[in-house]
Amino acid sequence: MKPARSFASDNNAGVHPKVLQAISSVNHGHVVGYGDDPYTAAAVRKFKQHFGSDIEVFIVFNGTAANTLGLKAMTESYQAVICSDAAHIYTDECGAPEKFAGCKLLPIATTDGKLTVDSVRHAYHGIGDQHHVQPRVISITQVTEMGTVYKPKEVRDLARFAHQRNMLLHMDGARIANAAVSLGLTLREATCDLGVDVLSCGGTKNGAMGAEAVVFFDRKLCQDFLYVRKQGMQLASKMRFISAQFEALLTGDLWKQNAAHANRMAKLLQQEIRKIPRVKIVYDVEANGVFAQIPRQAIAKLQKRYFFYVWNEEQSVVRWMCSFDTTEEDVKQFARFVAQTVAE
Ligand SMILES: Cc1ncc(COP(=O)(O)O)c(C=O)c1O
Repeated sequence: MKPARSFASDNNAGVHPKVLQAISSVNHGHVVGYGDDPYTAAAVRKFKQHFGSDIEVFIVFNGTAANTLGLKAMTESYQAVICSDAAHIYTDECGAPEKFAGCKLLPIATTDGKLTVDSVRHAYHGIGDQHHVQPRVISITQVTEMGTVYKPKEVRDLARFAHQRNMLLHMDGARIANAAVSLGLTLREATCDLGVDVLSCGGTKNGAMGAEAVVFFDRKLCQDFLYVRKQGMQLASKMRFISAQFEALLTGDLWKQNAAHANRMAKLLQQEIRKIPRVKIVYDVEANGVFAQIPRQAIAKLQKRYFFYVWNEEQSVVRWMCSFDTTEEDVKQFARFVAQTVAE
């Protein structure tokens, strides 16, 4: 029999019971739709407690929309977004940022998912040349797609580089909770205080059912965002049920507990996997993902019992993710199965 939980994705996990309860607790009576309700107001207050009172926050359904609409608010169609070639916006959003923001993405090769000032410098050219797109945004993913975490100085340096050149820093924070916990920072310290201008704030991978938000630290950028969100088909009519999810995550440190647990399980998985001959962990395990190079013939056998994604076919690298509901026993059982399968 297949185990109840796999290591395919933090999106494959269920909903945290406290989040489900929060949805249920706002399910009585009628309230005004489209975000003009007391539950959304309460969730916005919670965002402000965490990120500071000088922010604007807009709730959306999914991370692709948070990224795409956030970038749309930051760019004109003749401008460009510099990102890693592994960035979700570049590889996994079916061209939504290009279609809806209407601007070009400039991908940069990275070895560990992270942009650096040196690598960004190469893409920053053609300024003032009418034949070239004009770089306007640097977009980084925190946690990166490779499971690594930008250090505060790395983010600060990119922000400084951007701001000195009239550019902006966008952060795809689908896993911002995991990153903040990994760095030992508050949500504000991990974002706004490092110079991030716009954050895609993830809730879904942190235990929500489907709750993401665009957080603007520079209010000038969101003057038209109400219209951008509606035209972008991301204005929830029954918004209270999404807002309640954020209210739950941002209350009593649930966001932190969930992320800390997922990160801890990834460390345990790393520890167990390291004991297995012929399996090599390829990126530093800094949050809730483990990337391992495994013998090619073992992949299909492992996937029969545990579904997961192959990250790099050529190099036989696979991705294993932990979530808020991964248990120590899940990790140990999986590691035993990997050891057995690889040895066959
Ligand atoms: C780095 C990153 N950004 C954004 C997303 C959000 O995507 P979705 O549109 O599936 O919510 C994901 C989800 O897998 C992700 O891994």
